[in-house]
Amino acid sequence: MTPTNTSKKQKLMALLEPTGQGHLLAFWEELDSVGQSSLAAQIEALDFALIDALYHGEIDQPDWAELSRRATAPTAVRLAERVSGAGGDLDISDEAAATRGVEALRAGKVGVILTAGGQGSRLGFEKPKSVYPIGPLSSASLLQIHIEKVRATAVRYDVSVPLYLMTSPATHDDTLRFLAENENFGLVADDLVVFCQGTMPAVDINTGKLLLSGKDTLFRSPDGHGGTIAALAASGAIDHMRARGIEQLFYLQVDNPLVPICDPALIGYHVLAESELTSLTVAKHKPQDKLGNFAMIDGRLHVIEYSDLPDDVAELRDEQGELKFWAGSIAVHIFERSLLERALELKDTLPFHIAKKKVPHIDTTGQQVTPSEPNALKFEKFIFDLLPAAKRPIVVEYAEADCFAPLKNAPGAEKDTAEYVQRMMLAQHRSWLESAGADLAAGVDIEISPLFALDATAVAQRIQPGQKFSDSTHLRP
Ligand code: UTP
Repeated sequence: MTPTNTSKKQKLMALLEPTGQGHLLAFWEELDSVGQSSLAAQIEALDFALIDALYHGEIDQPDWAELSRRATAPTAVRLAERVSGAGGDLDISDEAAATRGVEALRAGKVGVILTAGGQGSRLGFEKPKSVYPIGPLSSASLLQIHIEKVRATAVRYDVSVPLYLMTSPATHDDTLRFLAENENFGLVADDLVVFCQGTMPAVDINTGKLLLSGKDTLFRSPDGHGGTIAALAASGAIDHMRARGIEQLFYLQVDNPLVPICDPALIGYHVLAESELTSLTVAKHKPQDKLGNFAMIDGRLHVIEYSDLPDDVAELRDEQGELKFWAGSIAVHIFERSLLERALELKDTLPFHIAKKKVPHIDTTGQQVTPSEPNALKFEKFIFDLLPAAKRPIVVEYAEADCFAPLKNAPGAEKDTAEYVQRMMLAQHRSWLESAGADLAAGVDIEISPLFALDATAVAQRIQPGQKFSDSTHLRP
């Protein structure tokens, strides 16, 4: 070993030993100079104090049990009020909201943020989830469906709608390749900004020691969908939004093909309420549903995770017998660009959440370890932690069948499998056709491409009442 290398190792050791992470240099002598430089750069970029504090539980975690007891229901527009025209908490009719939303869309002020950086570990699909061929008849990928919805929106309102697509190092290259192979599914290059989120290391659950995925490589995984905020700034995507005069960002996650992207009513409620953040919500079926719960605490909107909401609080009901915490989150929001900019000025203070996960790694002898039980702590930021920063936040209820079927699980699970998502897509498309007066034979499945019709209104414009469908078909332009 050269003197330079020795001193480099000593310098790194001086950094690592006081924090109990000296094992990261266990293979130093086996590495060539490229490997040593790479490992050194990864180590020097670490925030040891943060990792140590996260591992030792020294980062203040909110006392959700206590907070939830004084939480109140959020300002909301309920589905029944939307349908009846009653106006709800805000006294805005659905019609007025939709009209205002169309104005915002026509003015070219709306963009879309789509997060696709997750590792999809529960699904067990070898490629990024965005590539998954979810179309029940077409085998269209999740990404194709979302992009075609964005394109159909742009055509309908005669504007361009930029798409900000977040990847992570785990999904970036595959996603770019997939887009290139498919010519961006028809989206012009100017309207597509792909940006990559950051990563966080993981530590051994029992010792707090950082894990290595190779002799010269720290294990790192995407830093959660909350990583969107920092990544928007680091990538320059926020500047693109500013330059294009985009004011509202419709945010969604790639695993849910039912999202009514850029739905004018949601945008209109947001604009008319002068809200900085509007969340789409679905009503929970039962108190312990596995959805985040929208709740107001000290005048701020929060999502309380289902695992943090005590059973007795989840069971609370109002005078009408309705669940007090009825509003479930499906991770669809409209952000005012100014809110994202304020979050950036505050240097992205979203907290880290800690999750126990199975993390393959190498041990101190260099042997590959593939755990069958959670062995590590991963640290992730969640996008919903941005909610409390928002002024005048509101939630708008949609029917679950119109907006929520996330692809999460491998076959065999009770819910949120590909089979479940496809069933929900077909049911939605059947209901659009039936409300347009089409006549579908029993057992016939119709999948509708977003480019054929974006929603029930568009279906009604293209389908004649009484039109018969006797065979399963993929309707496309
Ligand atoms: P999930 O937390 O459900 O993760 O993310 P996942 O990757 O889909 O699946 P599991 O938990 O590993 O099984 C919900 C959405 O947020 C995005 C995902 O791509 C998914 O669409 N996400 C998640 C990111 O963009 N980055 C992340 O770091 C995490």
